[in-house]
Amino acid sequence: MSNYLVDTFGLEGKVALVAGASSGIGAQFAKALAKAGAKVVLGARRVDRIEALAASIADETGSKTLAVALDVTDRKSVVAAFDKAEEAFGTVTVVCNNAGIAIPNWSLEESEDDWDKTMNTNLKGMWHVAQESGKRMVAAGVGGSIINTASILGLGVGGMQTSYATSKAGVLHMTRSMATELQRFGIRVNAICPGYFKTEINDEFLETELGQNMLKRSPARRAGRLEELEAPMLMLASDAASFVTGVALPVDGAHSVTLP
Ligand code: NAI
Repeated sequence: MSNYLVDTFGLEGKVALVAGASSGIGAQFAKALAKAGAKVVLGARRVDRIEALAASIADETGSKTLAVALDVTDRKSVVAAFDKAEEAFGTVTVVCNNAGIAIPNWSLEESEDDWDKTMNTNLKGMWHVAQESGKRMVAAGVGGSIINTASILGLGVGGMQTSYATSKAGVLHMTRSMATELQRFGIRVNAICPGYFKTEINDEFLETELGQNMLKRSPARRAGRLEELEAPMLMLASDAASFVTGVALPVDGAHSVTLP
């Protein structure tokens, strides 16, 4: 009985990779995966940050960690990161595909450059990571779990976020499509749709009157706490969710189901 939760949700012996692990949700996910027993590869562009984070997570949890340079917009960088991960720990079977950016803009004023940057990171970048990890699991003959960090803005829209919301809606359809195709290989592909969590991506906005009012109008009347994303992610990562795939899971205090 006492090992029930560990046996059900534990990740002992698994190799996990977090893309966009240098801050916010990705850093939280890396720590949660390590606490659940996985060996964790932290990938991001800011290598100094992830090296320090990888060392502190290893100290705190006793799990093995590795920091690898990763730019999700660059296919070669994605391949190199998975090579390093495999060399150190073996095939990655849990992937938190989490790198993302937001460039708030009115739709009629958004530059082509900002549109491309958003799509290249949030949609094409997630595709790079999902495809590369899927190919490697299939080649190794192992199943696994890919968890794409989408957003409630992939389910509905908000002001000043046309490219961001479009990219996240694309992530949701990519999730569904890949889940369908990869089911036969035992690879599950799901999306987590966070509501508002204060991180580097939105801390300035959430401090504004507009941001504060938006939170006050939401059912929970507050932003989420990063630790509130851990259990939903771990459920999707673990074998407990063996029949859960193609899902978009909001973690948002019912923000996405209410009218403004
Ligand atoms: P954050 O800015 O703290 O983290 C974003 C991470 O992605 C950072 O580690 C950043 O370095 C990394 N990243 C950006 N471009 C990259 C690239 N080209 N290659 C590799 N890594 C790259 O913000 P947060 O909130 O932790 O964002 C994580 C994910 O969660 C993003 O996909 C974001 O869209 C999503 N999200 C966040 C919400 C929030 O309220 N914070 C709500 C819904 C979704």
